[in-house]
Amino acid sequence: MISYSLFNLLMPLSVIYSLILNSLVSLHLFSPPSPPSSQTCSAVSSGVAIVTGSNTGVGYATALALAGCGRTVVIACRSEEKGRKAVDDINEETGTKNAVWVERLDLNSFLSVRRFADAIKGKYDKISILVNNAGINTSGISADKLDQCFQVNYLSHFLLTDLLLPEILASGSGRVVNLSSVMHHFGSDFSSRSDWISAALPSAPNAYANSKLAAVVFTKELNRRYGEKGLRSIAVNPGAVNSDIWRSFNPTLRKYILGPLFDKVYLDTRQGATASFAAATGLSFSPSVVYLQPYWLPFNKLGVGGEGEVMYKGTHPAFEMLGVHVGYASVEPRVPEGGGEGLWEASKEAVGIR
Ligand SMILES: NC(=O)c1ccc[n+]([C@@H]2O[C@H](COP(=O)([O-])OP(=O)(O)OC[C@H]3O[C@@H](n4cnc5c(N)ncnc54)[C@H](OP(=O)(O)O)[C@@H]3O)[C@@H](O)[C@H]2O)c1
Repeated sequence: MISYSLFNLLMPLSVIYSLILNSLVSLHLFSPPSPPSSQTCSAVSSGVAIVTGSNTGVGYATALALAGCGRTVVIACRSEEKGRKAVDDINEETGTKNAVWVERLDLNSFLSVRRFADAIKGKYDKISILVNNAGINTSGISADKLDQCFQVNYLSHFLLTDLLLPEILASGSGRVVNLSSVMHHFGSDFSSRSDWISAALPSAPNAYANSKLAAVVFTKELNRRYGEKGLRSIAVNPGAVNSDIWRSFNPTLRKYILGPLFDKVYLDTRQGATASFAAATGLSFSPSVVYLQPYWLPFNKLGVGGEGEVMYKGTHPAFEMLGVHVGYASVEPRVPEGGGEGLWEASKEAVGIR
Protein backbone atom coordinates (compact mmCIF):
# COMPACT_ATOMS: atom_id res chain seq x y z
CA MET A 1 0.00 0.00 0.00
CA ILE A 2 1.15 3.55 -0.77
CA SER A 3 0.48 5.89 2.16
CA TYR A 4 -1.77 8.94 2.22
CA SER A 5 1.17 11.18 3.16
CA LEU A 6 2.70 10.26 -0.18
CA PHE A 7 -0.62 11.19 -1.83
CA ASN A 8 -0.53 14.60 -0.13
CA LEU A 9 2.99 15.10 -1.45
CA LEU A 10 2.16 13.86 -4.94
CA MET A 11 -0.92 16.03 -5.43
CA PRO A 12 0.82 19.45 -5.58
CA LEU A 13 3.59 17.93 -7.68
CA SER A 14 0.96 16.54 -9.98
CA VAL A 15 -0.67 19.98 -10.35
CA ILE A 16 2.71 21.45 -11.36
CA TYR A 17 3.40 18.54 -13.71
CA SER A 18 -0.03 18.97 -15.32
CA LEU A 19 0.32 22.74 -15.77
CA ILE A 20 3.77 22.35 -17.36
CA LEU A 21 2.74 19.46 -19.62
CA ASN A 22 -0.45 21.19 -20.80
CA SER A 23 1.55 24.37 -21.54
CA LEU A 24 4.13 22.40 -23.55
CA VAL A 25 1.34 20.72 -25.49
CA SER A 26 -0.36 24.06 -26.22
CA LEU A 27 3.02 25.38 -27.50
CA HIS A 28 3.15 22.28 -29.80
CA LEU A 29 6.36 21.05 -28.16
CA PHE A 30 4.70 17.72 -27.36
CA SER A 31 2.01 15.95 -29.30
CA PRO A 32 -0.07 13.43 -27.37
CA PRO A 33 -2.71 11.32 -29.14
CA SER A 34 -5.80 13.47 -29.84
CA PRO A 35 -8.83 12.95 -27.64
CA PRO A 36 -11.87 11.70 -29.55
CA SER A 37 -13.59 14.81 -30.98
CA SER A 38 -16.98 13.19 -30.58
CA GLN A 39 -17.87 9.92 -28.97
CA THR A 40 -18.32 7.22 -31.56
CA CYS A 41 -21.65 5.42 -31.54
CA SER A 42 -20.67 2.66 -33.92
CA ALA A 43 -20.07 0.01 -31.28
CA VAL A 44 -23.24 0.66 -29.31
CA SER A 45 -25.40 -2.44 -29.59
CA SER A 46 -28.93 -2.94 -28.34
CA GLY A 47 -30.30 -3.28 -24.80
CA VAL A 48 -30.98 -0.98 -21.89
CA ALA A 49 -28.15 0.84 -20.10
CA ILE A 50 -28.33 1.72 -16.40
CA VAL A 51 -26.09 4.45 -14.97
CA THR A 52 -26.10 4.95 -11.21
CA GLY A 53 -25.64 8.48 -9.84
CA SER A 54 -26.52 9.95 -13.23
CA ASN A 55 -28.40 13.05 -12.10
CA THR A 56 -25.12 14.98 -12.09
CA GLY A 57 -21.37 14.83 -12.71
CA VAL A 58 -19.61 12.06 -14.59
CA GLY A 59 -22.70 9.83 -14.42
CA TYR A 60 -24.89 12.47 -16.07
CA ALA A 61 -22.36 12.97 -18.86
CA THR A 62 -22.09 9.18 -19.37
CA ALA A 63 -25.89 8.83 -19.55
CA LEU A 64 -26.05 11.79 -21.97
CA ALA A 65 -23.48 10.16 -24.28
CA LEU A 66 -25.28 6.79 -24.21
CA ALA A 67 -28.70 8.38 -24.82
CA GLY A 68 -27.20 10.42 -27.66
CA CYS A 69 -26.13 7.13 -29.27
CA GLY A 70 -29.62 5.72 -29.24
CA ARG A 71 -29.52 3.74 -26.01
CA THR A 72 -32.42 3.66 -23.61
CA VAL A 73 -30.71 4.87 -20.43
CA VAL A 74 -32.15 4.46 -16.95
CA ILE A 75 -31.22 7.41 -14.76
CA ALA A 76 -30.66 5.58 -11.46
CA CYS A 77 -30.38 7.98 -8.55
CA ARG A 78 -31.64 8.59 -5.06
CA SER A 79 -33.66 11.77 -5.64
CA GLU A 80 -36.70 11.42 -7.88
CA GLU A 81 -36.82 15.19 -8.40
CA LYS A 82 -33.16 15.40 -9.53
CA GLY A 83 -33.57 12.21 -11.59
CA ARG A 84 -36.60 13.49 -13.51
CA LYS A 85 -34.81 16.79 -14.18
CA ALA A 86 -31.79 14.89 -15.57
CA VAL A 87 -34.15 12.84 -17.79
CA ASP A 88 -35.72 16.06 -19.15
CA ASP A 89 -32.35 17.75 -19.69
CA ILE A 90 -30.81 14.75 -21.48
CA ASN A 91 -33.86 14.25 -23.68
CA GLU A 92 -33.91 17.92 -24.56
CA GLU A 93 -30.21 18.00 -25.43
CA THR A 94 -30.29 14.77 -27.46
CA GLY A 95 -33.69 15.43 -29.04
CA THR A 96 -34.78 11.93 -27.96
CA LYS A 97 -36.85 10.24 -25.30
CA ASN A 98 -34.02 7.80 -24.54
CA ALA A 99 -33.41 8.82 -20.92
CA VAL A 100 -36.00 7.31 -18.57
CA TRP A 101 -36.90 7.30 -14.90
CA VAL A 102 -38.00 4.02 -13.29
CA GLU A 103 -37.50 4.01 -9.52
CA ARG A 104 -35.40 5.60 -6.77
CA LEU A 105 -32.05 3.97 -6.06
CA ASP A 106 -30.48 4.81 -2.72
CA LEU A 107 -27.20 2.93 -2.47
CA ASN A 108 -27.06 3.69 1.22
CA SER A 109 -29.68 0.93 1.71
CA PHE A 110 -29.61 -2.66 0.42
CA LEU A 111 -33.44 -2.70 0.56
CA SER A 112 -33.57 0.21 -1.88
CA VAL A 113 -31.13 -1.63 -4.21
CA ARG A 114 -33.39 -4.71 -4.16
CA ARG A 115 -36.51 -2.63 -4.86
CA PHE A 116 -34.77 -0.85 -7.72
CA ALA A 117 -33.61 -4.15 -9.28
CA ASP A 118 -37.14 -5.60 -9.01
CA ALA A 119 -38.64 -2.53 -10.68
CA ILE A 120 -36.09 -2.65 -13.52
CA LYS A 121 -36.52 -6.37 -14.11
CA GLY A 122 -40.29 -5.92 -14.22
CA LYS A 123 -39.94 -3.29 -16.92
CA TYR A 124 -37.03 -4.43 -19.13
CA ASP A 125 -35.80 -7.89 -19.97
CA LYS A 126 -32.74 -6.89 -21.99
CA ILE A 127 -30.22 -5.04 -19.87
CA SER A 128 -26.78 -5.01 -21.41
CA ILE A 129 -24.88 -2.15 -19.78
CA LEU A 130 -24.57 -1.37 -16.08
CA VAL A 131 -22.38 1.59 -15.13
CA ASN A 132 -21.72 1.48 -11.38
CA ASN A 133 -20.88 5.17 -11.20
CA ALA A 134 -22.37 6.75 -8.05
CA GLY A 135 -19.91 7.61 -5.33
CA ILE A 136 -19.21 9.71 -2.26
CA ASN A 137 -15.99 10.65 -0.50
CA THR A 138 -17.49 11.43 2.91
CA SER A 139 -17.79 9.18 5.95
CA GLY A 140 -20.80 8.02 7.95
CA ILE A 141 -22.84 4.94 8.79
CA SER A 142 -25.23 3.42 6.27
CA ALA A 143 -28.83 2.30 6.76
CA ASP A 144 -27.40 -1.24 7.04
CA LYS A 145 -24.98 -0.16 9.80
CA LEU A 146 -21.91 -0.46 7.59
CA ASP A 147 -19.38 2.12 6.49
CA GLN A 148 -21.44 4.45 4.31
CA CYS A 149 -18.68 5.26 1.84
CA PHE A 150 -17.75 1.59 1.34
CA GLN A 151 -21.42 0.59 0.99
CA VAL A 152 -22.48 3.37 -1.41
CA ASN A 153 -19.37 3.15 -3.58
CA TYR A 154 -18.87 -0.60 -3.66
CA LEU A 155 -21.11 -3.01 -1.68
CA SER A 156 -24.44 -1.78 -3.04
CA HIS A 157 -23.02 -1.90 -6.56
CA PHE A 158 -21.90 -5.48 -5.91
CA LEU A 159 -25.49 -6.32 -4.88
CA LEU A 160 -27.02 -4.45 -7.83
CA THR A 161 -24.72 -6.27 -10.26
CA ASP A 162 -25.55 -9.62 -8.68
CA LEU A 163 -29.31 -8.98 -8.90
CA LEU A 164 -29.16 -7.87 -12.54
CA LEU A 165 -26.57 -10.45 -13.65
CA PRO A 166 -29.07 -12.96 -15.16
CA GLU A 167 -30.45 -10.24 -17.47
CA ILE A 168 -26.99 -8.88 -18.28
CA LEU A 169 -25.68 -12.36 -19.12
CA ALA A 170 -28.80 -13.11 -21.20
CA SER A 171 -27.99 -10.09 -23.39
CA GLY A 172 -25.01 -12.10 -24.73
CA SER A 173 -22.46 -9.26 -24.60
CA GLY A 174 -23.06 -7.49 -21.29
CA ARG A 175 -20.86 -4.78 -19.88
CA VAL A 176 -20.34 -3.84 -16.24
CA VAL A 177 -18.34 -0.65 -15.74
CA ASN A 178 -17.08 0.07 -12.22
CA LEU A 179 -15.98 3.58 -11.34
CA SER A 180 -12.66 3.43 -9.55
CA SER A 181 -10.12 6.20 -9.02
CA VAL A 182 -6.41 6.87 -8.86
CA MET A 183 -7.07 6.43 -5.14
CA HIS A 184 -7.24 2.65 -5.63
CA HIS A 185 -3.43 2.79 -5.53
CA PHE A 186 -3.75 3.90 -1.89
CA GLY A 187 -6.09 1.09 -0.81
CA SER A 188 -5.00 -1.38 1.88
CA ASP A 189 -3.26 -4.64 0.94
CA PHE A 190 -6.43 -6.67 1.42
CA SER A 191 -7.04 -10.11 -0.01
CA SER A 192 -8.71 -12.40 2.55
CA ARG A 193 -12.40 -12.50 3.37
CA SER A 194 -11.75 -11.12 6.86
CA ASP A 195 -9.66 -8.23 5.47
CA TRP A 196 -12.56 -7.14 3.28
CA ILE A 197 -15.14 -7.68 6.04
CA SER A 198 -13.11 -5.20 8.11
CA ALA A 199 -13.27 -2.66 5.25
CA ALA A 200 -17.07 -2.63 5.51
CA LEU A 201 -17.25 -2.00 9.25
CA PRO A 202 -18.63 1.38 10.37
CA SER A 203 -15.97 4.09 10.25
CA ALA A 204 -13.33 1.72 8.86
CA PRO A 205 -10.17 3.66 7.98
CA ASN A 206 -9.22 4.38 4.37
CA ALA A 207 -12.79 3.76 3.19
CA TYR A 208 -12.72 5.74 -0.07
CA ALA A 209 -9.43 4.23 -1.28
CA ASN A 210 -10.55 0.74 -0.25
CA SER A 211 -13.90 1.13 -2.04
CA LYS A 212 -12.05 2.11 -5.22
CA LEU A 213 -9.60 -0.79 -4.86
CA ALA A 214 -12.59 -3.11 -4.34
CA ALA A 215 -14.05 -1.80 -7.63
CA VAL A 216 -10.89 -2.95 -9.47
CA VAL A 217 -10.67 -6.34 -7.73
CA PHE A 218 -14.43 -6.86 -8.36
CA THR A 219 -13.93 -6.03 -12.06
CA LYS A 220 -11.21 -8.65 -12.41
CA GLU A 221 -13.26 -11.21 -10.50
CA LEU A 222 -16.34 -10.61 -12.70
CA ASN A 223 -14.22 -11.27 -15.79
CA ARG A 224 -12.74 -14.40 -14.25
CA ARG A 225 -16.13 -15.81 -13.26
CA TYR A 226 -18.30 -14.71 -16.18
CA GLY A 227 -15.94 -13.79 -19.04
CA GLU A 228 -16.58 -17.08 -20.79
CA LYS A 229 -20.31 -16.37 -20.65
CA GLY A 230 -19.83 -13.17 -22.64
CA LEU A 231 -19.64 -10.66 -19.77
CA ARG A 232 -16.99 -7.95 -19.94
CA SER A 233 -16.18 -5.74 -16.99
CA ILE A 234 -13.88 -2.70 -17.04
CA ALA A 235 -12.91 -0.39 -14.18
CA VAL A 236 -12.46 3.31 -14.85
CA ASN A 237 -10.56 6.16 -13.29
CA PRO A 238 -12.44 9.18 -14.72
CA GLY A 239 -9.53 11.49 -13.87
CA ALA A 240 -9.66 14.52 -11.58
CA VAL A 241 -13.02 15.99 -12.53
CA ASN A 242 -14.58 19.32 -11.60
CA SER A 243 -17.86 17.82 -10.41
CA ASP A 244 -20.16 18.01 -7.39
CA ILE A 245 -18.01 15.46 -5.56
CA TRP A 246 -16.14 18.37 -3.98
CA ARG A 247 -19.36 19.73 -2.41
CA SER A 248 -18.24 18.86 1.14
CA PHE A 249 -15.29 21.28 0.90
CA ASN A 250 -15.53 24.65 2.62
CA PRO A 251 -17.62 26.88 0.24
CA THR A 252 -15.30 29.91 0.53
CA LEU A 253 -12.20 27.80 -0.12
CA ARG A 254 -14.04 26.22 -3.06
CA LYS A 255 -15.17 29.54 -4.51
CA TYR A 256 -11.94 31.53 -4.30
CA ILE A 257 -9.11 29.01 -4.35
CA LEU A 258 -10.08 25.49 -5.37
CA GLY A 259 -12.71 26.51 -7.96
CA PRO A 260 -10.35 28.61 -10.13
CA LEU A 261 -7.58 25.97 -9.74
CA PHE A 262 -9.95 23.12 -10.60
CA ASP A 263 -11.15 25.06 -13.67
CA LYS A 264 -7.57 25.19 -14.86
CA VAL A 265 -6.26 21.69 -14.13
CA TYR A 266 -9.29 19.42 -13.70
CA LEU A 267 -11.36 17.82 -16.44
CA ASP A 268 -14.94 18.90 -17.05
CA THR A 269 -17.58 16.23 -16.52
CA ARG A 270 -17.87 15.40 -20.24
CA GLN A 271 -14.13 14.77 -20.45
CA GLY A 272 -14.46 12.76 -17.25
CA ALA A 273 -17.08 10.54 -18.92
CA THR A 274 -15.04 9.56 -21.98
CA ALA A 275 -13.40 6.57 -20.31
CA SER A 276 -16.73 5.34 -18.87
CA PHE A 277 -18.42 5.66 -22.26
CA ALA A 278 -15.59 3.77 -23.95
CA ALA A 279 -15.67 1.05 -21.28
CA ALA A 280 -19.44 0.67 -21.74
CA THR A 281 -19.46 0.57 -25.53
CA GLY A 282 -16.03 -0.29 -27.01
CA LEU A 283 -16.53 -3.77 -28.38
CA SER A 284 -13.03 -4.81 -29.35
CA PHE A 285 -11.01 -4.17 -26.20
CA SER A 286 -8.40 -6.85 -25.84
CA PRO A 287 -8.85 -9.18 -22.85
CA SER A 288 -5.91 -7.59 -21.01
CA VAL A 289 -7.81 -4.28 -20.72
CA VAL A 290 -9.33 -4.07 -17.23
CA TYR A 291 -8.78 -0.44 -16.26
CA LEU A 292 -9.02 2.79 -18.22
CA GLN A 293 -7.84 6.24 -17.24
CA PRO A 294 -8.07 9.47 -19.27
CA TYR A 295 -4.55 10.91 -19.32
CA TRP A 296 -1.60 10.76 -21.64
CA LEU A 297 1.33 9.00 -19.95
CA PRO A 298 4.36 10.33 -21.86
CA PHE A 299 6.86 8.27 -19.90
CA ASN A 300 5.28 4.85 -20.26
CA LYS A 301 5.68 2.44 -23.10
CA LEU A 302 2.76 2.80 -25.44
CA GLY A 303 0.97 0.28 -27.60
CA VAL A 304 -2.20 0.43 -29.64
CA GLY A 305 -4.94 -2.18 -29.34
CA GLY A 306 -8.25 -2.82 -31.09
CA GLU A 307 -10.30 0.19 -32.28
CA GLY A 308 -7.23 2.40 -31.86
CA GLU A 309 -7.32 2.10 -28.09
CA VAL A 310 -4.19 3.49 -26.49
CA MET A 311 -2.49 1.17 -24.04
CA TYR A 312 0.32 1.86 -21.60
CA LYS A 313 2.48 -0.58 -19.77
CA GLY A 314 2.32 -0.10 -16.02
CA THR A 315 1.43 3.19 -14.42
CA HIS A 316 2.21 5.38 -11.45
CA PRO A 317 -0.35 7.26 -9.36
CA ALA A 318 1.48 10.57 -9.90
CA PHE A 319 0.73 10.44 -13.63
CA GLU A 320 -2.83 9.19 -13.21
CA MET A 321 -3.90 12.15 -11.05
CA LEU A 322 -3.69 14.91 -13.62
CA GLY A 323 -2.23 15.54 -17.04
CA VAL A 324 -3.19 15.92 -20.68
CA HIS A 325 -6.60 14.48 -21.50
CA VAL A 326 -6.54 11.86 -24.27
CA GLY A 327 -10.04 10.44 -23.80
CA TYR A 328 -9.16 7.03 -22.48
CA ALA A 329 -6.11 4.84 -22.21
CA SER A 330 -5.60 1.40 -20.75
CA VAL A 331 -3.11 0.96 -17.91
CA GLU A 332 -2.38 -1.79 -15.42
CA PRO A 333 -4.20 -1.17 -12.13
CA ARG A 334 -2.64 -1.96 -8.78
CA VAL A 335 -4.15 -5.06 -7.19
CA PRO A 336 -2.91 -6.80 -4.04
CA GLU A 337 -1.74 -10.41 -4.27
CA GLY A 338 -4.34 -13.09 -3.60
CA GLY A 339 -7.08 -12.51 -6.17
CA GLY A 340 -10.72 -11.61 -5.67
CA GLU A 341 -12.14 -14.67 -3.90
CA GLY A 342 -11.87 -13.05 -0.45
CA LEU A 343 -13.60 -9.87 -1.62
CA TRP A 344 -16.35 -11.88 -3.29
CA GLU A 345 -17.07 -13.94 -0.17
CA ALA A 346 -16.99 -10.89 2.11
CA SER A 347 -19.29 -8.95 -0.24
CA LYS A 348 -21.85 -11.76 -0.39
CA GLU A 349 -21.87 -11.95 3.38
CA ALA A 350 -22.15 -8.17 3.83
CA VAL A 351 -25.06 -7.78 1.39
CA GLY A 352 -26.85 -10.89 2.64
CA ILE A 353 -26.74 -13.25 -0.34
CA ARG A 354 -25.70 -16.90 -0.44
N1 LIG B 1 -14.65 13.84 -9.52
C1 LIG B 1 -13.48 13.25 -9.47
O1 LIG B 1 -12.43 13.90 -9.51
C2 LIG B 1 -13.39 11.75 -9.37
C3 LIG B 1 -12.12 11.17 -9.39
C4 LIG B 1 -12.02 9.77 -9.31
C5 LIG B 1 -13.16 9.00 -9.22
N2 LIG B 1 -14.38 9.60 -9.20
C6 LIG B 1 -15.55 8.72 -9.10
O2 LIG B 1 -16.43 8.98 -10.18
C7 LIG B 1 -17.78 8.71 -9.80
C8 LIG B 1 -18.65 9.89 -10.15
O3 LIG B 1 -18.22 11.00 -9.38
P1 LIG B 1 -18.58 12.50 -9.72
O4 LIG B 1 -17.31 13.25 -9.69
O5 LIG B 1 -19.45 12.58 -10.90
O6 LIG B 1 -19.38 12.89 -8.38
P2 LIG B 1 -20.72 13.73 -8.15
O7 LIG B 1 -20.81 14.84 -9.14
O8 LIG B 1 -20.73 14.06 -6.71
O9 LIG B 1 -21.87 12.66 -8.48
C9 LIG B 1 -22.05 11.56 -7.65
C10 LIG B 1 -23.38 10.92 -7.93
O10 LIG B 1 -23.56 9.84 -6.99
C11 LIG B 1 -24.83 10.00 -6.40
N3 LIG B 1 -24.95 9.40 -5.08
C12 LIG B 1 -24.31 9.75 -3.94
N4 LIG B 1 -24.76 9.02 -2.92
C13 LIG B 1 -25.72 8.19 -3.42
C14 LIG B 1 -26.57 7.21 -2.85
N5 LIG B 1 -26.58 6.94 -1.54
N6 LIG B 1 -27.43 6.56 -3.66
C15 LIG B 1 -27.47 6.84 -4.97
N7 LIG B 1 -26.71 7.76 -5.57
C16 LIG B 1 -25.84 8.43 -4.79
C17 LIG B 1 -25.05 11.50 -6.33
O11 LIG B 1 -26.41 11.81 -6.10
P3 LIG B 1 -26.84 13.21 -5.38
O12 LIG B 1 -26.73 14.28 -6.42
O13 LIG B 1 -28.22 12.94 -4.92
O14 LIG B 1 -25.88 13.41 -4.25
C18 LIG B 1 -24.56 11.88 -7.72
O15 LIG B 1 -25.55 11.59 -8.67
C19 LIG B 1 -17.73 8.40 -8.30
O16 LIG B 1 -17.74 6.99 -8.12
C20 LIG B 1 -16.40 8.98 -7.85
O17 LIG B 1 -15.88 8.33 -6.72
C21 LIG B 1 -14.53 10.95 -9.27
